Amino acid sequence: MPLPKAELHLHIEGTLEPELAFELAARNGVALPYAHTDALRKAYEFEDLQSFLNLYYELMAVLRTEQDFADLADAYLARAAAQGVRHAEIFFDPQAHLARGVGMGTVVEGLWRALGRSEETHGVSTQLIMCFLRDESAASAMETLEAAKPYLDRIVGIGLDSAEVGHPPVKFREVYEAAAALGLRRVAHAGEEGPPSYITEALDVLGVERVDHGLRCMEDPALVERLVRERVPLTLCPLSNVRLRTVDTLAEHPLPAMLDAGLLCTVNSDDPAYFGGYAGDNFDAVRRILGLTDERLRELARNSFTASFLAHDEERRAG
Ligand code: HPA
Ligand code: ZN
Repeated sequence: MPLPKAELHLHIEGTLEPELAFELAARNGVALPYAHTDALRKAYEFEDLQSFLNLYYELMAVLRTEQDFADLADAYLARAAAQGVRHAEIFFDPQAHLARGVGMGTVVEGLWRALGRSEETHGVSTQLIMCFLRDESAASAMETLEAAKPYLDRIVGIGLDSAEVGHPPVKFREVYEAAAALGLRRVAHAGEEGPPSYITEALDVLGVERVDHGLRCMEDPALVERLVRERVPLTLCPLSNVRLRTVDTLAEHPLPAMLDAGLLCTVNSDDPAYFGGYAGDNFDAVRRILGLTDERLRELARNSFTASFLAHDEERRAG
């Protein structure tokens, strides 16, 4: 029996497996520049975040209808449930779809077809987090927030993803303020490829309650101390870090040191179709390669619920 866990860092577009990509391409008459699934899988050799993002955005061309988004989410939820995920807080990237002429309603209502009945069909509760692409303008993010207003009963919060370096959190100050005023929860990717100062900025300028990745905090002892003191959750993605070469090998991943430092770490899959594993696979990998004890794995699973939007703030502070 896999450990029951919550998944807090998962891009739904990153769950598009090659088989489903080809099925949707055929259904929608979209041509893919790959002959078959094996040829596509061979393209999954990444040098860095940008080289992954190029393929990630290219493959999204197959997602066109509400049913496509529903099928995508259903396939993820089935795999996640089989690996012990009981609760999933799911990112989506509306700007990548709006740019292709696929409307906000198609994306949100499509995902909701699967998410809205996920507790019955998969035993997984879900929440939806809308991410802004940080390499697009702040004005575009604000327009996206505006476009989401009819769907805010389906969206619990906002996040920030895509190419990090050169796009500091402060660029999105106004849109985060506007989202906060709408009662939306706030998270952001920071410290994946970007410097530790982006983590500080995400906390102080954007008011995030959780940091996605946050790996590079380890370069700044004062920041680590702060994250421990304020019990700021970090949503780590070990297999992603290896595939995007944020760390050289999994054996060198700082997760054990981060846990020893007292950081509130969680383990997640990020873009499992691209990075070689779902949430349970990430847990298995850190157990095998980093030698984490059962006690540490239980701590990580417990942290995932503590760091989730289900947890009450008092509970998080009390640990
Ligand atoms: N980092 C930044 N942006 C992303 C990622 C990631 O790991 N996955 C999908 N968009
Ligand atoms: Zn991510």
